[in-house]
Amino acid sequence: MSFINENYLELQDSYLFSTIAKKVEEYKTKNPDKEIIKMGIGDVTRPIVPSIIEAMHKAVDEMQDEVTFRGYGPEQGYEFLREKISKYDYKDRGVDINPDEIFVSDGSKCDVANILDILGDKNKVAITDPVYPVYLDTNVMIGTAGKYNEEKGMYENVVYIPIKAENNFVPELPKEKVDLIYLCLPNNPTGTVLNKEELKKWVDYAKENKSLILFDSAYERYITEENIPHSIYEIEGAKDVAIEFRSFSKTAGFTGVRCAYTVVPKELKSITSKNEEISLNKLWSRRMSTKFNGVSYITQRAAESVYSKEGQKQIKENIDYYMQNARIIREGLSKAGFTCYGGVNAPYIWLKVPKGLTSWEFFDKLLNEKQIVGTPGVGFGPSGEGYFRLTAFGTRENTIKAMERMQK
Ligand code: MLT
Repeated sequence: MSFINENYLELQDSYLFSTIAKKVEEYKTKNPDKEIIKMGIGDVTRPIVPSIIEAMHKAVDEMQDEVTFRGYGPEQGYEFLREKISKYDYKDRGVDINPDEIFVSDGSKCDVANILDILGDKNKVAITDPVYPVYLDTNVMIGTAGKYNEEKGMYENVVYIPIKAENNFVPELPKEKVDLIYLCLPNNPTGTVLNKEELKKWVDYAKENKSLILFDSAYERYITEENIPHSIYEIEGAKDVAIEFRSFSKTAGFTGVRCAYTVVPKELKSITSKNEEISLNKLWSRRMSTKFNGVSYITQRAAESVYSKEGQKQIKENIDYYMQNARIIREGLSKAGFTCYGGVNAPYIWLKVPKGLTSWEFFDKLLNEKQIVGTPGVGFGPSGEGYFRLTAFGTRENTIKAMERMQK
């Protein structure tokens, strides 16, 4: 007889984006002649830019030569990439992060989930609500979330911090003491941000309460306004209290290529049940060297080329393209009479669903009547009920077409 991890039985339905994909497939089968516009999962549509493709081709060629062929790489990532990340993403922006604090991986989704391997199941967890569903689901899997309360749509042991139009999408500090805090900024799904003063309050809270912030900044390249931190380490003292997750997926179109990195500062410590302080950098390194064999050489060369002059220029063109889409969506929705948020510092637009409909009912209505796929707000947490997310990652043509359909 073998046993299962029963925490999995506490998970609700299937993973949000899988449920949506299934519903869309069903609709397609029943309506093969209808043209569907997908604005649900935040998947990019612009092809990888030429300078990155060139770097990949070069790396492929190296693999066919006996001298330049590479086998297993370092589990933490090649030095050439970690050095570039340290210099361009941090040091040049006045943040002191060294290559040995950077761990290259195949995605932020995995890192955000895997970090619980080293943090264990004794933490009191706080998440902003709504938020990227992986934070909650992975805590359910490890057993820190507790039982699901159907009526409230919440897990008993999780502290939910609402972010809503009513509080201007600024989360309030938890009233009780929590150990782990997930912050996603710019926020997925609301597309909203915190300025430096607001983010500082979280760092101060974490210092006072000896909490650890898990800071997901996958969308930082989409920030267009001043005084919005791109990294939590721009806040003084954050290296003592935060792990940061970054990804090339939305920055350089790597959703299919797979490359990301996680910053675990040397200063960062958590405690054992006997109150001994343990370095998280060491623990994460141990975890990665045991459970991970590194990202492919070809992919890491591709990621390295993101930092070249040409690479930077070309990926910025794609980011600008998506942000133009975001503007088209915001304006189109406003014209159609919707109240919407986000889309200025993030590729997500968060809109209020018409009165009297739940966010899943609105999903069905949009799919059936307009053939547009979005993401129901409640899928990101109970405070997301009454809202709906559209992504700006589509093609220009489809974005315009979708807005025309919304206005009809
Ligand atoms: C989203 O749509 O929220 C994201 O694309 C999902 C992800 O990055 O895993």
